[in-house]
Amino acid sequence: MCGIVGYVGFREAYPVLIKGLHRLEYRGYDSAGVALVNEKGDLNVYKHRGKVAELERFAESKDIAGHIGIAHTRWATHGEPNDANAHPHYSESENLALIHNGIIENYGLLKEALIQNGFRFRSNTDTEVLVQLIEYVMQTNRCSLLEAVQTALREVIGAYAIAVVEKGNRDRIIAARKSSPLVVGLGNDEYFLASDATPIVEYTDKVVYLNDEEIAVIERGKPLRVVGLNNAEAKFDIKKLSMSISQLEKGGYPHFMLKEIYEQPRTIIDCIRGRVNIDGTHVVLSGVLDNKERFLHAGRIIIVACGTSWHAGLIGEHLIEDLCRIPVEVEYASEFRYRNPVIRPDDVVIAVSQSGETADTLAAVELAKRQGAFIFGICNVVGSSIARATDSGAYIHVGPEIGVASTKAFTGQVTVMTMLALTLAKEKGTIEEERYLEILGHLQKLPSLIGEVLELDEQIKDLSKIFTYCHNFIYLGRGYNYPAALEGALKLKEISYIHAEGYPAAEMKHGPIALIDNEMPVIVIAPSDSIYEKTVSNIQEIKARGGKVIAVISAGDHTVRNIADYCIEVPTVTECLSPILASVPLQLLAYHIAVNKGRDVDQPRNLAKSVTVE
Ligand code: G6P
Repeated sequence: MCGIVGYVGFREAYPVLIKGLHRLEYRGYDSAGVALVNEKGDLNVYKHRGKVAELERFAESKDIAGHIGIAHTRWATHGEPNDANAHPHYSESENLALIHNGIIENYGLLKEALIQNGFRFRSNTDTEVLVQLIEYVMQTNRCSLLEAVQTALREVIGAYAIAVVEKGNRDRIIAARKSSPLVVGLGNDEYFLASDATPIVEYTDKVVYLNDEEIAVIERGKPLRVVGLNNAEAKFDIKKLSMSISQLEKGGYPHFMLKEIYEQPRTIIDCIRGRVNIDGTHVVLSGVLDNKERFLHAGRIIIVACGTSWHAGLIGEHLIEDLCRIPVEVEYASEFRYRNPVIRPDDVVIAVSQSGETADTLAAVELAKRQGAFIFGICNVVGSSIARATDSGAYIHVGPEIGVASTKAFTGQVTVMTMLALTLAKEKGTIEEERYLEILGHLQKLPSLIGEVLELDEQIKDLSKIFTYCHNFIYLGRGYNYPAALEGALKLKEISYIHAEGYPAAEMKHGPIALIDNEMPVIVIAPSDSIYEKTVSNIQEIKARGGKVIAVISAGDHTVRNIADYCIEVPTVTECLSPILASVPLQLLAYHIAVNKGRDVDQPRNLAKSVTVE
């Protein structure tokens, strides 16, 4: 939610900031803006509704000189997406400009007090309150910008990652964070600032991740300083980035989403690498083994997540209960955190998050931690807030996911869940050797099996043309594939804006069946698994009511082929891995339908990839 970029050094700041905004556009694209201090010390702010490209057109004829600046791409929370609500926001005197990611919860009260003190507001945002408050403190306390930021942030309730620049100061950016991510990049005689490392990686691999309630004083020609709100110096570690630029580009694909779908054979290899022995007979997730006692004595496992990661969590529930015989509950993090849940010290909480920054998931982690549970993270972004807040964890290692609709992260999460369940089941002695080896063997074949599914792309593209103009879809699956049905429906909704519902296939007769007529496409995931016959009966029920069935079936299944209207045949795989193979054609189907409809596939309306507000 909202992307922040900053630069101070010897380069022209504007191109660095614009490039950085493009990299962060996945975080929100309602408006974009930039603040630059030029050589004369003028503080120029340019901002515009819409994507970064709109800002670039708007700023074309303006004074964009300067070697220091901050920039922002917005996902609107307070105030509609228009020019006035775009960041950066000036203070009353226009001496300060500030950008912000997060939400200031007590902005109403603060705003009233500032208005009474003569401050005028130009926007409806919560952010503008911050910059005005900082200026108010500077004026009344006659203090420095740093002291004013510290005082103002002590007054604020909510979440923030901010950066401020000051008229007349060509050298210094003050930045701070609480519950919203912020990274400082350390170059030679230059500094970078961003919400994540993607705008930084092409200039330097040295970064510092700020912690909550820390302020970075980023000043040309001086070493980086990190201080607390009370001005105490904070120690920081310089980390080395392992990301590469090519991972951040489309590599010849028309969209990041398609590139990421096609990357899955490789990302599964990366995810498994180093965790399965050379003979392919043993899998170890070190984060589980290092905390073996906590896992072995877990009375219960609670999985918390949002969106696609929640769907991966549902598959995790099946895997862990099935293989490890430990009771599992899967919770929407946003519900869990507010419903006073019972958390016991022998609970293990698994937080699943691609970005590692989702505000609700992070809050759920902190709540469970306070109540003594052991917290395990399954994240993609290395060094992210959730990864750092957990006691232990396993990265999915699928590389940066840029398309807003999650694809390779989902299959990576399910892969890690599988390895976690196998590691634990072996330690607990709840799995027979034969089954263990079968699942592990199939897990290692997944990359080539996904490769086979990707060969169906042309067929799926043709199929997409038949259904592009439908208004509704139902997705059905049972057992391990019920979450895959939910995920298939979510993909279609997110990027094509077609209404789609995922349901457990048998539950259909308790309501959704009323929707079925000859206009209703029903996607049924029906692999040849332990509940295959039951799923076939559900398909018959749909056909009896005239529905159009598109079935995802196992290779060689003639029964469903004879009943369904259209079939997508995927390779046969052991049951617990079937949702991975079923998901890939559904990702492609959603992609092609969205492209046919001319949708903005990588940046669908109203969504953002990293939801750092609750
Ligand atoms: C947003 C994204 C989804 C994602 C969800 C959870 O809604 O658009 O793709 O699944 O957040 O994100 P996380 O980073 O925690 O997995």
